[in-house]
Amino acid sequence: MDVTRFSGSVYGSIRDGVLVVTIDNPPVNALSTDVREGLCRALDHAVSLEGAAGVVITGAGRVFVGGADIREFATPPVAPILPDVTQRIEQSDKPVVAAINGAALGGGAEIALACHGRVASAAAIFGLPEVKLGIVPGAGGTQRLPRLVGTAHAVEMIGSGRSVKADEAKRFGLIDALADDAVAEAVTLAHGMANAPLRRTGELAVVPADEAETEAMASKVLAKARGQVAPAEAVRLVRAAALTSLEKGLADERTTFLRLRDSDEAAALRHVFFAERQAGKVAKLEGISPRPVVTVGIVGLGLMGSGIAVSALTAGYCVIGVEQTDDDAQKGRTCIVGLLGKAAQSGRLTPDARKACLQRLATTADLTALSGVDLAIEAVFDNLAIKTDLLQRLDGVVRPDAILATNTSYLNPDELAAATIHPERIVGLHFFSPANVMRLVEVIDCAATRLDVLATALAFAKRLGKLPVVCSAAEGFIGNRIFSAYRREAEFMVEDGAMPEEIDAALEAWGFPMGIFAVNDMAGLEIAWARRKRQAATRNPNERYVEIADQLCEAGRLGRKTGCGWYTYSSGEKTVDPQVTALIETARKAKGIVPRQFSADEIVAHLLRSMADEGSVLLSEGIAGSAGDIDLVMINGYGFPAHKGGPMFQARLKRDSHA
Ligand code: 3HC
Repeated sequence: MDVTRFSGSVYGSIRDGVLVVTIDNPPVNALSTDVREGLCRALDHAVSLEGAAGVVITGAGRVFVGGADIREFATPPVAPILPDVTQRIEQSDKPVVAAINGAALGGGAEIALACHGRVASAAAIFGLPEVKLGIVPGAGGTQRLPRLVGTAHAVEMIGSGRSVKADEAKRFGLIDALADDAVAEAVTLAHGMANAPLRRTGELAVVPADEAETEAMASKVLAKARGQVAPAEAVRLVRAAALTSLEKGLADERTTFLRLRDSDEAAALRHVFFAERQAGKVAKLEGISPRPVVTVGIVGLGLMGSGIAVSALTAGYCVIGVEQTDDDAQKGRTCIVGLLGKAAQSGRLTPDARKACLQRLATTADLTALSGVDLAIEAVFDNLAIKTDLLQRLDGVVRPDAILATNTSYLNPDELAAATIHPERIVGLHFFSPANVMRLVEVIDCAATRLDVLATALAFAKRLGKLPVVCSAAEGFIGNRIFSAYRREAEFMVEDGAMPEEIDAALEAWGFPMGIFAVNDMAGLEIAWARRKRQAATRNPNERYVEIADQLCEAGRLGRKTGCGWYTYSSGEKTVDPQVTALIETARKAKGIVPRQFSADEIVAHLLRSMADEGSVLLSEGIAGSAGDIDLVMINGYGFPAHKGGPMFQARLKRDSHA
């Protein structure tokens, strides 16, 4: 077969009288300048090629096209730009058909939309996830998708960035056919189109909108956007497609795309995108194979242990859950069964998968049942004595080659490991509650942890579908260390004159879903209280210390669960409590502090700085591997808004703006 190279990453060959153009730009066939040039040359070639009745575009490997090359977004666009490519595809006199062999995302979906026909294999997914990068589609997606699937579906897909699988895409009318061999079917389709007028997506009328449905989709999307700009712009552009010409719609889309591409929001989300892909890549683990894990033991079946069990079961592991008594083991089992039931009800788990999970689950009050497990995770109360005792007992029960993981959130796992016979097999797996929902897992590389133990813990977390961030052992790891600094500074500000409700309002207006005092109330104030009491003996007496949180705890105000904490709660609604206001005023007076005013900007800037400063300390101490890791922890575990990029990104933004 003769192969013609159109550029370094695009080549073509004739198959049954059709030019099959393949984009081969690993790892995801992103639309780099070289690919765009290659596609233009391929289209030119097809026009002049008498032996070609049409063109099929496909991707090499398991991806069709993963979108525009995001790495090019930091520099000005280079010709030929993607809208020129999609325009040339659509205006081609010969039929152009997309053979979608895998993910067709962003610009990849826009290439497919501009084609005259689309055939997909079962592995295909189709989506315009640009809003997740703080931008809108920039090569016709907002104008062509509603012409194929209607405004309501397009608003939902583009506004949320949700991808659809091949069968759903077919139902929407997004693709013409599903086929095992998408290229062969696309070649047939191209022949079938050769002698009839071509169906150009951009020339179709927008499918008439059901206004109520469109409005409902728009409201749903915008409710989730929480201060992010791109979703609202995406919705606006899609809705405009029905009201304006294609030309005007495309021009508006391009201007909006270019404006948003240069925004801080887009830079922040690009930073998060690449940080996520870097997370869990540890240089020293290169060439180290994880140990096989089939059966996981989980000790402690409270909410945390049950959540971990559900994650492990749905990822295909066998789970043995252990509690102290038969009664507690049964309660744990009921909790796990309930969580699996909820997953099945919501469609996240098929009935068969749920059944299979239950068959792989055993619960018991007998710790020796863990003698054969490959990995045992302790998820008991976060207390040094309790956890040390348990790990010592586990040491005597599990196989010599089994791994022991501690799910502590505050304790230093090095101290726990030091109390065991085999510290080299101890690793930390800090899950976030509810563990079956939250993506983040801090994977703690203790001083003695063997490399293959760390590699196994990482592989395990990845198989659970989690976002693992590796950090060295230290009290509080990354997240709780930064959160403590954040809370400490917020409490200093309270003592200095800002009220908790003012601080929370400033943070929420900036983009946090919840202010820090509301978060503390939700999590419960007692864990941090216990930690402060633990640290009391070693605390530097010259360091500033705010007693207000301790006084709240002493008064039984432990947060939402007790109906009051920093706020008072009634039917789930929080209100400012005059008793707390009085307590704060008394505390200020006792220290002779004259309260001063804080602006919302000052509050936010100060708290962001406190997080970034602590982050810098974590980097210098080697506890965090990178600024990106710190940002991921704060975004995925502590509610930092993703579209603000994390505290380290914000600090960099500030530095750059002053440079
Ligand atoms: N541009 C540049 N690099 C990309 C990329 C892109 N669009 N998509 C992925 N990559 C890189 C990743 O950074 C990673 O690099 P690394 O190996 O050096 O860390 C590598 O490709 C593999 O990525 P994943 O680990 O994510 O691979 P998966 O196989 O798990 O997933 C995927 C493949 C589903 C395609 C996933 O990579 C993905 O979702 N990519 C982004 C899709 C996207 O957002 N596209 C829209 C781009 S914006 C756009 O198209 C604008 C247009 O409208 C003009």
